[in-house]
Amino acid sequence: MSTFYVTTPIYYPNSEPHAGNAYTTIAADVLARYHRLKGNKVCFLTGVDEHAANVYNAAKKEGLSPQAYCDKIAPTFVKLWERLNISHDIFFRTTSDLHKRGAQKFLNVLYDNGDVYKGKYEGYYCLSCEEFFSEKELTDEKICPVHKLPLQWLEEENYFFRLSKYQDRLLAHIHENPDFVYPVARRNELLNFLESGLQDVSISRASLSWGIPFPFDPEHIIYIWIEALSNYITALGYETSSEHYQTFWPADVHMMGKDITRFHALLWPAMLMAANLPLPKHIVGHGWLTKNGEALSKTRGIFIDMDGDIATYGVDAFRYYLLREFSFGNDGDYRPARLHARYNADLANDLGNLLNRVLGLVNKNFEAIPTPTTPGEFDDEVKEMAQTTVDKLDEHINTFAFDTALETIWEFVRRINRYIQQTQVWTLAKPETKPRMGTILYNSLEALRLISVLISPFIPETAEKIQKQIGLADFDTVAEWGCLPAGLTVSKGEPIFPRIDTKEQKQPQPEAAAKPKQVSFADFQKLDLRVALILAVEPIEGADRLLKLQVDLGTEKRQVVAGIAEHYKPEALVGKQVIVVANLEPATIRNVESHGMILAGSGDSVVLATLETEMPLGTQVR
Ligand code: MSP
Repeated sequence: MSTFYVTTPIYYPNSEPHAGNAYTTIAADVLARYHRLKGNKVCFLTGVDEHAANVYNAAKKEGLSPQAYCDKIAPTFVKLWERLNISHDIFFRTTSDLHKRGAQKFLNVLYDNGDVYKGKYEGYYCLSCEEFFSEKELTDEKICPVHKLPLQWLEEENYFFRLSKYQDRLLAHIHENPDFVYPVARRNELLNFLESGLQDVSISRASLSWGIPFPFDPEHIIYIWIEALSNYITALGYETSSEHYQTFWPADVHMMGKDITRFHALLWPAMLMAANLPLPKHIVGHGWLTKNGEALSKTRGIFIDMDGDIATYGVDAFRYYLLREFSFGNDGDYRPARLHARYNADLANDLGNLLNRVLGLVNKNFEAIPTPTTPGEFDDEVKEMAQTTVDKLDEHINTFAFDTALETIWEFVRRINRYIQQTQVWTLAKPETKPRMGTILYNSLEALRLISVLISPFIPETAEKIQKQIGLADFDTVAEWGCLPAGLTVSKGEPIFPRIDTKEQKQPQPEAAAKPKQVSFADFQKLDLRVALILAVEPIEGADRLLKLQVDLGTEKRQVVAGIAEHYKPEALVGKQVIVVANLEPATIRNVESHGMILAGSGDSVVLATLETEMPLGTQVR
């Protein structure tokens, strides 16, 4: 059995956790759950980094001892992780004895190996980053580039770690292991930084009292980053070289935000080299969640209303949105309107309606899940796609492309919707076609079972709900086609994602109140609205908002230009049924011909208009 060890950063408990912390932790949770699904032995570590100056200051403000303050805040992290269904194996606190002893032992090893020496340090220091900044990184105002707060000038007699000694080995390691740092942009940043030269770092603080003392000089406490990074081994039992430690170190993935990749990809590996320990396999630095383009920040009070959105849409929708919407390495602006759109389009419509529809047909026409006796058109294609979906998903998860991973699963979801449509299964209830109907419904349920397994790392509650509705007693983790037993009694199928209409959508927009002129029915009838299928989609060069779509109207194929590029990725559109104004005068938009218009709701976000269930192409919409 393979092992898999994944970690999040340990978060500063200077205040309660925010959505940025949640983002990292959910991503790590997906990896942990995925590897458990594959049968690997997993250890998932998260926790809090308690000996920080900002924790000390926050405690002081409240008139509490730092320890009492941490004892108050640490449980708020645990509570949020429970709320978000985080499946961590260890919630680690750096005020634990296990950590203190382990960190001291680690420092002794670095010292004994000759990589720690005493010297004088002076420089500008950010108490929130817990980091010195060099003059060349700063402007005249000496403001922290991350927190935009004034820096402090510190002068101290310190212990130093010989980081510079490891420059060449680090460079070689990153060059020789192209997948050590993800994504590539972060790797390039690090290589540039390394090439400009590494300096030794100060690793002790004489002026502070809140921290872990040096084992060989108790007047000094260990610099928080050195202490914090060592949590990845101390939590496993590094101090006693426990079995757990031996099983799981080196880590497979250290997951984190881009802000702290440098500590993890340079300082931490150098410390491990100095202690003759193996290096973690992957350092993954994702982008930041922003709000209105600004970084979230406990220090600056910029928050996302997680509680409100989770209360409205549920935990799974929140998890889904974060991982589906943003390309993992890049920053992403959190927009409730987009969460809403994804909820209704991907979860309620694509997945929820599919389940509902299939269960409805089974209940109406069969006593239980029918036995597949009568293979026919499209079956093999669906089975093949099931396998390629499993394979592609593995590839995407192993390269931390969570958005593409989800899109891959959703392509399969949409394929099954199309399978229902293509086979017109609801018309096959006559005795002579009923065996075929049973087979199609069996295949659709088997696809849904498989989908439930594949989505379970991302949206675990939904995965379980689907399996329960299908009639499986225990959660089935087999990601292979053909495992669904016939004969199970399926449930009535309560909608797993009931459609949600926001208040804003229900209320008429006050500004839009200049009432449009009434039209006669005869005028309305002049519009030829038709159901169409999107076959292919391309961006239009030089037009960020536009996409060029090829659509099938049943009797003919058309090219249509639509202003939806900011709201839909091309690959997410292929296979969707939409409504087209088919008799609109042709137009040339940015040199591209458009023969029709696609209908969409258009407000804060843009959401395509679709029919509640799919219909034959070319059907008239009135
Ligand atoms: N305590 C250090 C980490 C030590 S690890 C050995 C620390 N803590 S922190 O509380 O500031 O948390 C930082 C981490 O929280 C980031 O690396 C990132 O994973 C996450 N995020 C904080 N703000 C974030 C966003 N706005 N967006 C996404 N993730 C963010 O640094």
